[in-house]
Amino acid sequence: MGKTVYNMKTTEITIVLHEFQSIGELPENDQLLLTEARRITALAYAPYSGFHVGAAVLLDNGLIITGNNQENSAYPSGLCAERVALFYANANYPESGVKSIAVSAAKNGVLVNDSVKPCGACRQALAETEVRFETPIRIILDGQNSIMVLQGVESLLPLSFSKKAL
Ligand code: THU
Repeated sequence: MGKTVYNMKTTEITIVLHEFQSIGELPENDQLLLTEARRITALAYAPYSGFHVGAAVLLDNGLIITGNNQENSAYPSGLCAERVALFYANANYPESGVKSIAVSAAKNGVLVNDSVKPCGACRQALAETEVRFETPIRIILDGQNSIMVLQGVESLLPLSFSKKAL
């Protein structure tokens, strides 16, 4: 019995994430954006999950657009906070790139312990916006224990699908 030898190549992909212990440690622009995300979290419509999420998007024209999760009794008809904010921004300011997004989340009105992680569909939507405007999006993820900051969607969604493949 012969042994098959595969000519395999292994690549390690590194993601970079910065962690801060409190909002006060963040750079001033991030603090402002995260404060907006926290404010809009409280206004989420999440009667089914009780998980309230808020997102604030900073555009390259300086505007901040906010959104929160909008649930529905027909569950899949609802939408995450990130996409509510991002799609509103892209719909109303199609010429403006997105510089950064801050996301916060609360259960029973209390900020979640671990930093909130965007779902796969929101990561894909963020990837689209990054490719569309050719600008990396800074991502700020809120939590009691740590606030994570990523420099671009590549760190959230490596090996992503994009129009480059079409
Ligand atoms: N949700 C968001 O809005 N963003 C996330 O990053 C994670 C999940 C919403 C969807 C749903 O309304 C609720 O949180 C529970 O999954």
